[in-house]
Amino acid sequence: MATQPIIAILGATGAQGGGLARAILGDPHRGFSVRAITRNADSPAAKALAKHGAEVVAGDVDDEASLERAFAGAHGVYAVTFYWAHMDPPRETREGGAIAKAAKAAGVKHAVWSTFEDTRARVPLTDTRMPTLMGHYKVPHFDAKAEANAAFTRAGVPTTFLLTSFYWDNLIHFGMGPKKGADGVLAFTLPMGHAKLPGIAAEDIGRCAYGVFKRPDLIGKTVGIAGEHLSGAEMAAKLGKAMGQAVKYHEVTPDAYRGFGFPGADDLGNMFQYKRDFEREYRAARDVAFSRSLNPALQDFDAWLAANASRIPAG
Ligand SMILES: NC(=O)c1ccc[n+]([C@@H]2O[C@H](COP(=O)([O-])OP(=O)(O)OC[C@H]3O[C@@H](n4cnc5c(N)ncnc54)[C@H](OP(=O)(O)O)[C@@H]3O)[C@@H](O)[C@H]2O)c1
Repeated sequence: MATQPIIAILGATGAQGGGLARAILGDPHRGFSVRAITRNADSPAAKALAKHGAEVVAGDVDDEASLERAFAGAHGVYAVTFYWAHMDPPRETREGGAIAKAAKAAGVKHAVWSTFEDTRARVPLTDTRMPTLMGHYKVPHFDAKAEANAAFTRAGVPTTFLLTSFYWDNLIHFGMGPKKGADGVLAFTLPMGHAKLPGIAAEDIGRCAYGVFKRPDLIGKTVGIAGEHLSGAEMAAKLGKAMGQAVKYHEVTPDAYRGFGFPGADDLGNMFQYKRDFEREYRAARDVAFSRSLNPALQDFDAWLAANASRIPAG
């Protein structure tokens, strides 16, 4: 039986939740124990967590009863949803609401909800600078999460709303790394002009969340995190240095990006446009020094590249 307060972690076998689980388990002075929630306790990732001391329990964000069981007796809950697994915004909002309801039922003392801004507060659906998607959204994967914020507040769950940033890991896993152009030179494509993009190592999101769980004064607050804010040109220069070959910044318009045709290109085109057009507000919500106060080991882009550049597909 765990004697320390339990943090129940959704997505513990994935990027955000995995970072949090590893941050707690790797801290010899930890004040919490880890309950890793998974749909498959037999997966290698779940077994690795168990081996390092996590309690592994079954849970699915689409099964509220399973969430209540998984949260029972927990002090804290790390709440994250998995938009890209379904790309269905109402489902994302529903899942956030189910997590909030189950956290309330379990009497959780601190939930950290991984969310985003509601972009419609700055770009109403009537605003034609970017297309309205699926009838109700400007940036579906942002807006759908933001819609679930109210469920945490309404339910009276003591919650910190955590605004995350672009994973640099997208350069490895999400097809966003530099691609060779017709001239044979690697090009890093973003539709953001000269605007700076707050980015973060995915692993650091969980490490920052660990810092949030140690700060009950952040309950009821919205906090944003990032490892560094860099322009496309700055990212390309750093990528080139780390990859040992020239990488240029390929600036495209948000419209061109929306037209790339891969699933979610329109959502991401709108997202990058939002980050460009509201650069000041978006960056101000993600202070690097504050993030480092939560997570002293926070990586900047160079540090992330030093460990990961060899994993970025160069082509
Ligand atoms: N890519 C980015 O730049 C970025 C930046 C900020 C935020 N985000 C957001 O991050 C979220 C995803 O988080 P992540 O990257 O940490 O996810 P991830 O690495 O894809 O991991 C997801 C993990 O969650 C579990 N999972 C999937 N569906 C589940 C379900 N229905 N119920 C319970 N567990 C489930 C899976 O574990 P099992 O198979 O073990 O159950 C999986 O290992 C998305 O909503 C996305 O919008 C992404």
